Amino acid sequence: MAMDKFVINGGNRLKGDVTVGGSKNSALPILAAALLAEGQTVLRNVPDLEDIVAMIDLLRSLGCESRREGADVFVEVRNETHSHAEYDRVRKMRASVCVLGPLLAKRKSARVAMPGGCAIGSRPVDLHIRGLRLLGANIELDSGDMVATAARLRGAEIFLGGPFGSTVLGTDNVMMAATLAEGTTVIECAACEPEVEDLACFLNKMGAKITGAGTPRITIQGVEKLAGCDHTVIPDRIEAGTFMMAAAITNGEIAVHNVRLDHMLAVVDRLREVGVSVERRNGSVLVSSARHLEPTDVTTQTYPGFPTDMQAQLMSLLCLADGNSAITEKIFPDRFMHVAELLRMGCDIRKEGPTAIVKGVKKLIGAPVMASDLRASAALVIAGLVAKGQTTVNRVYHIDRGYEDIEVKLRGLGADIQRVGE
Ligand code: EPU
Repeated sequence: MAMDKFVINGGNRLKGDVTVGGSKNSALPILAAALLAEGQTVLRNVPDLEDIVAMIDLLRSLGCESRREGADVFVEVRNETHSHAEYDRVRKMRASVCVLGPLLAKRKSARVAMPGGCAIGSRPVDLHIRGLRLLGANIELDSGDMVATAARLRGAEIFLGGPFGSTVLGTDNVMMAATLAEGTTVIECAACEPEVEDLACFLNKMGAKITGAGTPRITIQGVEKLAGCDHTVIPDRIEAGTFMMAAAITNGEIAVHNVRLDHMLAVVDRLREVGVSVERRNGSVLVSSARHLEPTDVTTQTYPGFPTDMQAQLMSLLCLADGNSAITEKIFPDRFMHVAELLRMGCDIRKEGPTAIVKGVKKLIGAPVMASDLRASAALVIAGLVAKGQTTVNRVYHIDRGYEDIEVKLRGLGADIQRVGE
């Protein structure tokens, strides 16, 4: 499994129907939030992904009982004595860091490994720590772990902006901790991502009092306790966008189901600019593209701007546009690992600081490539779908972290893609 690769024979137009799963980045913090609850939490529409398995394993190590039935996951806290999220887990999945806020609020103390760097660059957690300290937590570093304690968290006014704007998981951590704090917390410069709003919606079902999630100012009135609830995760806007790019690059025509287009307006805007048609039809979305693609410029931003998690996939598409495009990465300035691999497929891309200048070429050429992160891998698969000849994408485990059965779904749309064990 771990060493699987994808073998893609490019050239097939994608046609047909595809259904998007639940959002990975919504489900991960919501699972962590189950640590706050008394009683059983039921989470529905949870994608079956390596990252989700890792989070559920982490919850088990923190004393939770958990089982999956299809797309439903049941979690219940049984034992609160072990509150250490170990380095080995955090290193493998950075979202593990969002157990810090819930553990601190519920158990008064926690030990969570400080995440290191990863394939998309350095990813500090200074804002998480700052926010939790302002709530009254004492946090110290010991052997690479953040050791946090707080007899009682108190509501506070917290400005959570950093040099790159707001932070998604940082907002989540502070919001989760504040649910059980004494008094009112205001988070200013909060992340506005739909996943933050989904988490707030979940917490409110558990009994929290949160308003303003989805805007830059979130207000949380602390409550005494939270109870398990039943919640359905929002559709994954990045998975949906990835299929849209795949359809567009193959000059295809697909219907995407279980999609929230209102969460994807920046992506839809760029697709239309490139000449791709994106239309609502009976609750689904039809995507079709002509052979001719226009170049465009894009800058990644926090929501509602163009998401960094779609940057690599859009780059593959723009490699075939009729002219030059500029792609600027404002969230993770080093997130360009896919560039060198796309060059192996005949793309013409030049990097200048946080910007990639993409010159459209007439065709892409199949090649063995490998990627070091999830979205970069998706971009290489997209490129492989249209490349002349065969493309082999190595290290598929990166894709399995965030896309459920991507090759099965693509085959359903007519792509020639196989998973092969190495
Ligand atoms: N930042 C700081 N200090 C902090 C936290 C973040 O300076 O304490 C900086 C980061 O270095 C970055 C920017 O703020 O430059 C934004 O990072 P953010 O904290 O928002 O990222 P995250 O919450 O760690 C989530 C997603 C990522 C996605 C980013 C940006 C999850 C589990 N992960 O990460 O998703 O790229 O937001 O939208 O929700 C992916 O799914 O492939 C993925 C990497």
